Amino acid sequence: MPPILRTVAELRARVSDWKAAGETVGVVPTMGALHEGHLSLARRARATCDRVIVTIFVNPRQFNNPADLEKYPRTEAQDAALLASVGVDAVFAPGPEEVYPRGFATNVSVSGVSEPLEGAHRPGHFDGVATVVAKLFGMTRADRAFFGEKDWQQLMVVQRLVADLNIPVTIEGCATVREADGLALSSRNRRLSAEGRARAPALVRAMQAATEAMRGGQAVPEALAEARAAVLAAGFETVDYLELRTADLLLPMERLEGRGRLLAAATLDGVRLIDNIPV
Ligand code: PAF
Repeated sequence: MPPILRTVAELRARVSDWKAAGETVGVVPTMGALHEGHLSLARRARATCDRVIVTIFVNPRQFNNPADLEKYPRTEAQDAALLASVGVDAVFAPGPEEVYPRGFATNVSVSGVSEPLEGAHRPGHFDGVATVVAKLFGMTRADRAFFGEKDWQQLMVVQRLVADLNIPVTIEGCATVREADGLALSSRNRRLSAEGRARAPALVRAMQAATEAMRGGQAVPEALAEARAAVLAAGFETVDYLELRTADLLLPMERLEGRGRLLAAATLDGVRLIDNIPV
């Protein structure tokens, strides 16, 4: 089993030894409830860095809904066993008071790219993400950090953050891992009922159909409206957004030109699922 470190002091002691030996350090920030998507990030880190740290911290500052924070699955023993199979060097799993000690008063806020989509539907979410990610980079002194493309907007926010604050870490985005039927892996999938799980791939299927239609010449607003209707017809309760945006800055795209990204968030069985694909 990898050692589970609870304090910044313990973490820093290990990292100092590694750095003194000239070793490169990779970090995979997670909130636990690990699945194959997280493990693919850890394997990528294992393949490219001398030392690998996986952080497990359910970050209260990024939950705009307290019920969501409470319901978030916590499966540390299982997570540690999965990480042992990848061969990571350490798990950093601090408590909230270690990350946000008394008197903590700093907020990191990335404007622009964090504002639409998730930012509009989950006020404060990306401030929470940017704040904790900046802290994790400072704590781990990682040379490389690995994030899933499943949270595309988060990846863009983190890239902006490290560029703007000159944080010396290279961000690597890793492809979304999907079930055989196309559903993007997510810790939230385990909250779906059996029926919901069977319906869930309708989201990515509608997105793929819209992508093909747009590439085939269908007008963007029409293709998106049809995709939205298909998602609702498949039994999703709501669609928060299903939009074509520029891939990097996430600006609205009225027609297909350059690198686009189709991003969606929709609720099924009371579980909010997000996904995105390149267009
Ligand atoms: O993607 C996540 O699991 C979280 O947003 C992250 C990056 C670990 C920050 O808490």
